[in-house]
Amino acid sequence: MDDTLYIHNAKAAMTVCKMCKECNGEVCRGQTPGPGGKGQGHTFVRNVAAFKQVKLNMTVIGHNTEPESTYTGFGSSFAAPIFAAPISNVKVNYGSLVDEETYLKGLVEGMHQSNLLAFLGDAPAKATFDLSVSALRTHPKHTVMTIKPWETHALTQRLSEVLNTNPLAVAMDIDAGGLVSLRSTDPKVSILSVEALKAVKTHLGSIPLILKGIMTVSDALKAIDAGADILIVSNHGGRVMDDGMASLEVLEEIVSAVDGRGEVWLDGGVRSGSDVFKALALGAKAVLVGRPYSHASLGSGAEGVQYLSQKLIRELKDVMRMTQCVSLKDITREKVRWVQPIK
Ligand SMILES: Cc1cc2nc3c(=O)[nH]c(=O)nc-3n(C[C@H](O)[C@H](O)[C@H](O)COP(=O)(O)O)c2cc1C
Repeated sequence: MDDTLYIHNAKAAMTVCKMCKECNGEVCRGQTPGPGGKGQGHTFVRNVAAFKQVKLNMTVIGHNTEPESTYTGFGSSFAAPIFAAPISNVKVNYGSLVDEETYLKGLVEGMHQSNLLAFLGDAPAKATFDLSVSALRTHPKHTVMTIKPWETHALTQRLSEVLNTNPLAVAMDIDAGGLVSLRSTDPKVSILSVEALKAVKTHLGSIPLILKGIMTVSDALKAIDAGADILIVSNHGGRVMDDGMASLEVLEEIVSAVDGRGEVWLDGGVRSGSDVFKALALGAKAVLVGRPYSHASLGSGAEGVQYLSQKLIRELKDVMRMTQCVSLKDITREKVRWVQPIK
């Protein structure tokens, strides 16, 4: 596979998403449902734009060691700290010609072959949840279910079903709790209190809890108080609130407030290995990549997903080589700097 075929296949597989040269939220402003950001789409656009405001400090005098990108977590090693974000309902959101089951199969198989993690999404329809749980069962060591913050009964029931698969971890996109479109569905979402999140953590026992949708220091501290093991700085790819901050912009203050009491990850606007490097340098331990992985699976299945994974890892290692980083722990704050746009 090469870039031309990869892009051609992805374009041919979707009738709504235009598969723009740069997936930056401009063309699909306001398209939710759809591939875009909510409202005028400013949050999605800002997520991508923020990465352009961080530059790399090239450092080329030193050693000539081959960089190593292994991430260690959940008692395993993964090829890199680059994972696929949960994306569901591809027919509605992308006008996909590929059905949800085939899309999930390509994603999970491709991430398994890449030795990376695929996060899987949830929806009110039990059939959609069931498809994700089935995909989870095919490769339990390379998948994480992301449950929505449903009102109590459905939440307990779905958590139990996921626990039956003996999962690596369980994630919850708490930022879906305020979504108007999911407040009159059956089941419906809810904003969860610290106590409700503590109950989720208790239900999980020793299984790590990942909370996705943290954008402020105060929520980060509440998440830690509730017992979360991993916090994902994320605004759902700009799909839950317009005019919010970019996830990259708030990353450092959240990492600093969490102060090692949990891992902080990030998603939103990660499009290249260089973006992965920037997020790691600003304190994230891993990133999720959303829209690009879904394009890869819709267009070319597992092969496309593997192609994208290898591309991102190759780009990350290129930057590591050019900044004298041998392993992930060498990717530190002084390797990057925030800049003003050049007029
Ligand atoms: C079409 C679409 C569907 C999504 N569905 C879900 C979902 O079911 N659960 C979830 O936690 N996040 C969902 N997200 C958000 C992603 O997991 C992720 O946070 C976001 O896409 C990251 O931004 P990026 O696409 O710019 O990389 C969805 C995003 C898109 C574009």
